[in-house]
Amino acid sequence: MNILETKRLLLRRLVMDDLDDLFVLYSDKEVRKYFPEGTLTRDETKEELEWFLNGHPQHPELGLWATIYKETGQFIGRCGLLPWTIDGQYEVEVAYMLARKFWGQGLATEAAQGIAEYAYDKLNLSRLICLIDRDNEASKRVATKIGMSFEKEGYDDKGPYLLYSINK
Ligand SMILES: CC(C)(COP(=O)(O)OP(=O)(O)OC[C@H]1O[C@@H](n2cnc3c(N)ncnc32)[C@H](O)[C@@H]1OP(=O)(O)O)[C@@H](O)C(=O)NCCC(=O)NCCS
Repeated sequence: MNILETKRLLLRRLVMDDLDDLFVLYSDKEVRKYFPEGTLTRDETKEELEWFLNGHPQHPELGLWATIYKETGQFIGRCGLLPWTIDGQYEVEVAYMLARKFWGQGLATEAAQGIAEYAYDKLNLSRLICLIDRDNEASKRVATKIGMSFEKEGYDDKGPYLLYSINK
């Protein structure tokens, strides 16, 4: 099921056939620099994929979506919207992760912008966040380019993070 399109990208629900591509993405140490834990093995990747097959189980309108480079049909990453409760508040995070050879072409910004517009226009969300490692400059830049700004620091079981946000 297609979720949204941008100029160069198609975002659609994950399907079981994405397993190999997703596993290759998650196995790249550079891609995982700021997410070294969790979903590392093929079995864990399969479990995560199954979890998101019909959207996020508790919020099917959200989820992680396969990100396809339209020109070639290649799977180049997974991006989407994830629900969290932070400081007692329901939040929706714009998430983005692309394969390394597609970095540096504005594709994450394009995906994140498309996701944000989808969230505002189709899901009627008026606030979005990004949870970012303090050293992840590329991610901060993507968040800033879609209009977010630094709001606060937080801490979860994986350590400290920066919360960037936008309120429409
Ligand atoms: C973060 C990520 C999605 C960025 O993807 P990308 O397609 O290269 O991003 P873009 O091309 O849209 O670039 C966005 C901006 O970040 C800048 N940027 C990219 N890498 C950078 C780096 N290492 N340091 C500082 N800025 C950087 C770009 O120059 C661009 O800014 P500009 O337009 O002002 O020049 C990609 O690096 C990735 O998948 N990383 C691993 C997963 C991850 O960390 N996800 C974020 C989780 S919070």
